[in-house]
Amino acid sequence: MSHTFIEQLAAVGAQAPSADNCQPWTLHWTGRALEVAYASRHPDTNVFDADSHATLLAVGGVAENLSMALAANGVDGAWRWSGGASQPYGELAVSAPLPDTFVAPSGPARRHTNRLPYQSTALPADVLAHAGAAREGGNRTVVLTEPDARECLVQLVRQCAQARFCNQDLHRWLFGSLRHTPQEVAQGDGLDMNTLGLPPGGRAMLALMSSWKRMEALNRIGAYKLLAHTETQLLSAAPALVCVVGPEERYGTLDAGRLLTRVWTELNLAGVAVQPYYVVTDQVNRLFAGTLPAGFDPWIWIAQRDLARLLGLAEGEMLHMILRVGFPAREPVRSRRLPLAQLFTSAD
Ligand SMILES: Cc1cc2nc3c(=O)[nH]c(=O)nc-3n(C[C@H](O)[C@H](O)[C@H](O)COP(=O)(O)O)c2cc1C
Repeated sequence: MSHTFIEQLAAVGAQAPSADNCQPWTLHWTGRALEVAYASRHPDTNVFDADSHATLLAVGGVAENLSMALAANGVDGAWRWSGGASQPYGELAVSAPLPDTFVAPSGPARRHTNRLPYQSTALPADVLAHAGAAREGGNRTVVLTEPDARECLVQLVRQCAQARFCNQDLHRWLFGSLRHTPQEVAQGDGLDMNTLGLPPGGRAMLALMSSWKRMEALNRIGAYKLLAHTETQLLSAAPALVCVVGPEERYGTLDAGRLLTRVWTELNLAGVAVQPYYVVTDQVNRLFAGTLPAGFDPWIWIAQRDLARLLGLAEGEMLHMILRVGFPAREPVRSRRLPLAQLFTSAD
């Protein structure tokens, strides 16, 4: 097998999205198949372990990118996922012989997060219909364009964001992810401050919030409500919201990651900007895991009941992700990736 071909294939896989750009994966070429396994990159601040929902979504995204890359090269591949919670998650067996040159698929390198304001112009009906018809396994998309439905979802995001800003673990995780200096950014993971699209005063605000003790004091005078309100302003202004929903189990989540990455990539290829919002899913998961900050359980119960009604969730289904979509007003700074040598190994 061509080593360069497999290396380039792995590099496309690694362009997948992940929570705070934590890139919780490694790829290993066995000589026959590409294995995808978990990598805990910053254990001192990490909140998402190998079997967490956010990690499984990201791994599904790697799988989708790898499938797109094989398709672009006319190569067949067969996925085999491990049972239970074992590692590696699974492997992609690749059919020989491989082409001499690798053709990069157009989607994965174009897909990106845009956290800037979007134009308020409505998106074309065919673009929304295409996004709304996407399916993977038991997962589907729900597109909200009606102002009342969008506002209802925004309220739920606001409620969940309030809980998020009162959570010390999530505070440590966010501030551990931020990359301030060019040297920090050059390491290739985490959230480059320049990708956040912060408004004037935003950096000073973040600096103020960076100490948990100060954050707790600010929260006592209601800062978490103000922050949650600010966090949802762009969401309120978006012409459409796309929700990825489906079964609340391990394989369902891997499929949801595939669907999320496919829909997001196709929207970006159609010139549509995308920003994911994970806060509702995360707080609902924390409700069931018992890791919400004190006092928030009743609020998140209500949020998840209202969410099920709004999105028409059946028993055993959940919201995997919300996407804010719209035509971009400006191009954002793009996030980086870790050097391939840090995540790819080969037995060849
Ligand atoms: C599970 C998951 C949760 C995410 N949550 C958010 C979020 O709440 N807000 C946000 O702006 N981006 C979110 N993102 C986007 C990531 O921050 C982004 O994919 C990562 O920084 C890499 O940047 P890129 O998408 O431009 O390649 C999330 C992505 C994933 C896979």
